[in-house]
Amino acid sequence: MSNSLILVGTQWGDEGKGKIVDYFSKQFNAVCRFQGGHNAGHTIYKGDEKFVLHLIPSGIFYDHTSCFIGQGVILSLDSLLEEINQLEEKGIDLNGKLKISRYCSLLLPLHAKIDQLREDTKNSIGTTRRGIGPAYEDKTARRSIKAFDLEDSDLLESKVNALVDYYNYQLETIHGSDPIDNLEVLQDLKETYQKAAKYFGDVTDSLEAIHDNGGSILYEGAQGTLLDVDYGTYPYVTSSNTLATSVGIGSGFPKSIYADVLGVAKAYTTRVGAGPFPTELFCENGKKIAEIGHEFGATTGRPRRCGWLDLVALEYSAKLNNLASLCITKLDVLDSFEKIKVCIGYELDGQEVSFKSRLLHKVKPIYKEIEGWNQSLNSFNAYEDLPAQAKQFIELIEERTKTKVSLISNGPNRNDLILR
Ligand code: GDP
Ligand code: IMO
Ligand code: MG
Repeated sequence: MSNSLILVGTQWGDEGKGKIVDYFSKQFNAVCRFQGGHNAGHTIYKGDEKFVLHLIPSGIFYDHTSCFIGQGVILSLDSLLEEINQLEEKGIDLNGKLKISRYCSLLLPLHAKIDQLREDTKNSIGTTRRGIGPAYEDKTARRSIKAFDLEDSDLLESKVNALVDYYNYQLETIHGSDPIDNLEVLQDLKETYQKAAKYFGDVTDSLEAIHDNGGSILYEGAQGTLLDVDYGTYPYVTSSNTLATSVGIGSGFPKSIYADVLGVAKAYTTRVGAGPFPTELFCENGKKIAEIGHEFGATTGRPRRCGWLDLVALEYSAKLNNLASLCITKLDVLDSFEKIKVCIGYELDGQEVSFKSRLLHKVKPIYKEIEGWNQSLNSFNAYEDLPAQAKQFIELIEERTKTKVSLISNGPNRNDLILR
């Protein structure tokens, strides 16, 4: 039995992972990010104060919780330093609390530049324009600058030169853009690294030590299952593996794979950027969900597309992540809906098809309609006391996903939670 936990998004991201990680962090010795980059935007309310974390694990608000960034994370030093400054300005001390893997591949400003140029073409997929795709491409193509490269000046210079040459060819020939100066890239990189150097270390050793001393580790997923580069709605996905099973590689600690997996899902569905979305609503109900749920991207501020809960997709996610339990967030957003729909199947040319059909842009959702509860859920703190309609909604999810809903979130604040 492991006393650790892997927390992952089960939809297209923004399920409320940050809030749930923050809530659990008080019970854990460490929190570790294992994939993604600063495309993530995890929102946490501490009282009335709002924090949006992009790279720093959402456990940072507890003094006893150590925070780690594993080697599966693609690391922008600029974004990291900006986030550290913002937290320090608000009185959060990171000294001795944050360790980042020396094996992380670095995301440089040139990656963001290429991402933006690509997004400005007709092949746009609606990325966060942060450079995530190009940076992961470099990692796989063995071109990345790794954090440990900064420890050897000669090696660094030759790697930067090769990388800049590669991108300058693209910039000039494909995009008709000005080339980048390799010396500027090198200088900039050295300066930023100097400011962040104290945070780098061996994450594998630290996680192992915490584990061997009986400590507990919470692994914080970013994005969501349906954005996984292999199992998501390709090519409308992010460039990392978002599934719980990527935790071993991404954290660098092999025993992480034995932890139970908690999936987080909204009581409805949202998506930012392009790509298929079977239950998307274009009517008043969609606008109402967006308005009540404040559905604007935490990273880019873009309006999120909204739709009803999709149990076909959630069943797929539950299986792929081997979920031990589920947390349903934002149930309160449905408080004022007289009728609530839940997608229980997809129809294509008169046949019922599964998520795996991969023809999601063509399927028609089959809905089950249930009565709404028509009252505020915010003051409830016991599952038994919830209105019957809300319990029916939760039980529908459990039945279809064969997964227990162990947690319900009924508001954005830390303690707006119903535990079962
Ligand atoms: P993450 O990326 O999965 O961490 O999610 P985001 O932070 O991008 O988006 C979730 C949004 O929903 C944030 O604005 C949260 O403050 C908010 N939120 C989280 N849980 C709840 C909830 O139960 N009810 C309401 N009304 N808002 C919530
Ligand atoms: P959190 O961790 C929602 C989406 C982008 C785009 C696609 C590819 O806050 O849940 P990328 O910049 O990664 O190359 O963009 O993935 N995307 C997210 N959507 N939440 C996120 O993170 C996301 N991170 C990336 O909108 O559709
Ligand atoms: Mg988010």
